[in-house]
Amino acid sequence: MELTNNALTVLERRYLAKDENGNVIEKPSEMFERVANYVAQADKIYDEKADINKTSKIFYDVMTNLEFIPNSPTLMNAGRELGQLSACFVLPVEDSMEGIFDAIKNSALIHKSGGGTGFSFSRLRPKGSTVKSTGGVASGPVSFMKVFNSATEAVKQGGTRRGANMGILRIDHPDIMEFISCKEDTNEITNFNISVGITEDFMEAVEKGKNYDLIDPHTNKVTGSLNAKKVFKHIVEKAWSTGEPGIVFLDRINKTSTIRKIGEIESTNPCGEQPLLPFESCNLGSINLAKMIKKGPKGYEVDYNRLQEVVYTSVHFLDNVIDMNKYPLKEIDEMTKKTRKIGLGVMGFADLLFYLEIPYNSQEAVDLAEEIMGFIDKKSKEKSIELAEKRGVFPAYEFSSFKESGTEIRNSTTTTIAPTGTISIIAGASSGIEPLFAISFMRNVMDNDRLVEVHPYFEKLAKERGFYSEELMEKIAEEGSISNIEEIPEDIKKIFVTAHDISPFWHIKMQAAFQKHVDNAVSKTVNFSNDATKEEVEEVYMLAYKLGCKGVTIYRDGSRENQVLSTAKKE
Ligand code: CDP
Repeated sequence: MELTNNALTVLERRYLAKDENGNVIEKPSEMFERVANYVAQADKIYDEKADINKTSKIFYDVMTNLEFIPNSPTLMNAGRELGQLSACFVLPVEDSMEGIFDAIKNSALIHKSGGGTGFSFSRLRPKGSTVKSTGGVASGPVSFMKVFNSATEAVKQGGTRRGANMGILRIDHPDIMEFISCKEDTNEITNFNISVGITEDFMEAVEKGKNYDLIDPHTNKVTGSLNAKKVFKHIVEKAWSTGEPGIVFLDRINKTSTIRKIGEIESTNPCGEQPLLPFESCNLGSINLAKMIKKGPKGYEVDYNRLQEVVYTSVHFLDNVIDMNKYPLKEIDEMTKKTRKIGLGVMGFADLLFYLEIPYNSQEAVDLAEEIMGFIDKKSKEKSIELAEKRGVFPAYEFSSFKESGTEIRNSTTTTIAPTGTISIIAGASSGIEPLFAISFMRNVMDNDRLVEVHPYFEKLAKERGFYSEELMEKIAEEGSISNIEEIPEDIKKIFVTAHDISPFWHIKMQAAFQKHVDNAVSKTVNFSNDATKEEVEEVYMLAYKLGCKGVTIYRDGSRENQVLSTAKKE
């Protein structure tokens, strides 16, 4: 297996089994074997004579080839005591003390196992409303979010990973203005990403410059109205200054939901790519597109035959995960098995573009995105239909849009673009569908040494084309972008673009292209340079709406103190 040093470090820290003294007692290949063997067992539920060893070998091969990797909880927990395999959960928050604290307790159980939780706080009565039983005054959604946040802080996921949450409030909730600026102080509510739940009525009011109504969810009464344009501008301003809140188009999400009759989607998972019903969970997995290539007469091309096989295997794998998962709550077990959502996505898209010599910020790249994701989506449905023949349709099928079209399918959704924050490190691939952040960067290593780390394919080409030198790689790390470095040939500069060379317009075009062929949503951050204006941010929000995206997350360089990724220059 070709694991990078970074991959090994990540695996040792969090994924490989350890003894009670904290010593690693599992090799990476043994981890993949543990996962493959465990997940393959689900085949037996449907066919007593199923050849588990054969399936297990196929699962093992796609993982150790770094062609497909399931989400982190599956790698960490499959075949081990915890046994919780999903990354994404949404929990309901009812408008009662009991309901609120049930949600806190349940999220603690989920965080412990490495899953992330999303909540809508839209059902909570607004701040200042009366509480019947005590005659007191309600604290409102934002103050309760702080309680959720502290609980998450305290749990710290006991050894797996830090708890992540999504908090959503509908645009028509009376406390919406407080919510929009609740992360103004970037040291507050740090365990949450927040998004405003946007409705079609609101967008119409924005376009027409009209007012829209605020509604108390407890009484269902209109409590006032706000100017839609002003509220929209307020969201944009906050996002410009801190990167939050994001927005999610709730009506659009529900309109495209395949299971609308089962319930209303109010929230997504923490990173926004997976809209779910209350108590639903979803397991994700991603295909590494950098491995889906072959040499053709004119250089590298996409290997669609291999891609088809890997999609089939991945859907089989993810459907098995639903059955082998040990769910933290009975309600989650039931709801997840009713709809059987899975989320197959991709990583290494930026790497693929390098191999194919296509700039990320080009129509050609957008067309390729549509072609590849269209193919993956189609093949994932084919496999899900085949699984339905043997295993039956998902139990909520009768109430789904698939029933209307007569498509007998195993899973109510098959595709999602995850961020692949950690699994892309394990696979040594660029993350999700994001462009590279830097072609080379300085990494701090032990004894305060700094080593320059270069994208491997860039390094290879630089050596082949004779412009490689260590000094040059360090210079690139300092500059961040290669666009102004003379020594680098023009054709290379065009292809090896990084996040900041790419205008927000192309970021959104790319997100929209993937969204067209994805059932769930797309994890994507639109990067802005530090000097971007609020108007530019507003334009991108509107464009995302017009192009059919399900939400938007933006980040303006340097707008948060503790920027996670940065090039050497800004450190
Ligand atoms: O790469 P990996 O499988 O670890 O995760 P990802 O693709 O970056 O994130 C997928 C989902 O995992 C997120 O949207 C969250 O629901 C969840 N997650 C979490 O709960 N806590 C984290 N620290 C990271 C991710």
